[in-house]
Amino acid sequence: MELDGARVVVTGGSDGIGAGLAAAFAERGAHVMVVARTEHKLRAVADRLVGDHLVADLTDADDVDTLVARCVDRLGHVDIWVNNAGVETNQSLAATPRDDIRALVRLNVEAAFLLTRDVLDHMLPRGSGHIVQMASVAGAVPFPGLTAYAGSKAALTHFTESLRLELKGTGIGLTVVSPGPVETAMWDRLEDADNDFAMVGLRRFKHLGFLPKLDVGRVVDATVGAVERDRRFVRLPRRYTGYHLLSNAPRRLVEAALIGTRFPRDWEETSS
Ligand SMILES: NC(=O)c1ccc[n+]([C@@H]2O[C@H](COP(=O)([O-])OP(=O)(O)OC[C@H]3O[C@@H](n4cnc5c(N)ncnc54)[C@H](OP(=O)(O)O)[C@@H]3O)[C@@H](O)[C@H]2O)c1
Repeated sequence: MELDGARVVVTGGSDGIGAGLAAAFAERGAHVMVVARTEHKLRAVADRLVGDHLVADLTDADDVDTLVARCVDRLGHVDIWVNNAGVETNQSLAATPRDDIRALVRLNVEAAFLLTRDVLDHMLPRGSGHIVQMASVAGAVPFPGLTAYAGSKAALTHFTESLRLELKGTGIGLTVVSPGPVETAMWDRLEDADNDFAMVGLRRFKHLGFLPKLDVGRVVDATVGAVERDRRFVRLPRRYTGYHLLSNAPRRLVEAALIGTRFPRDWEETSS
């Protein structure tokens, strides 16, 4: 996908990986819309870009249901959509408040699924577009203490791999980004949490050398490069590649089994 002149939306673009992605797309000539809840942070990011911002709480159904239309209205069209906004958990599932689990599923799963669906409505008739899903290594391997989070990222990864088969031949690209720990506020919250259930497992992984911290720039450069070259996956650090290949193997087998099949373009009937 050509980035110069592209219209890009980054959810969770006010901080961390999302803010880094917004800046990197803008540096390559894209017009970027950043979306999150905190207006002053969004403003600070958008002021440094060729871009704009929209305030939305993606745990709120109305905000989710109207977001793609608001972005298209402001940008004219959308070439690249990045589902990056996400939250984590840091206790055992049994100790995690129900409302925190509900908010996590709404943001990490429901909003990402619905926004993907809505932006496809816009991209399919144009026959082009690219969607980035910010998953995690926790979507491929289990992490005690991050159970709801890991489940949400596995859901996003698997959803995207099914969707990839539906979108074959449509001109829409999909990239799943699965980083290990990245130096952002999210990772600081995990390391600083008073309740250190998650850290027991994470300390062991660290001791085994499984958890080198990535800087935001590394994830950002790999992600932007993957969109430019229409790559399916960003998997960092590379030492996790084997886990990702193993967890993705059944999906690749199904993809091979479906070679040559043609699915009806039923979205053309529903949109006419
Ligand atoms: N950091 C890591 O170690 C790591 C590793 C693998 C994957 N990831 C994934 O990478 C993505 C970004 O993480 P990060 O580390 O950059 O996190 P972060 O620094 O905490 O930033 C999260 C972003 O999401 C926004 N956000 C949070 N709740 C929201 C809501 N309800 N509605 C709209 N926006 C919301 C935040 O802005 P507001 O609070 O202003 O809304 C912020 O812009 C997440 O999906 C995360 O799961 C992170």
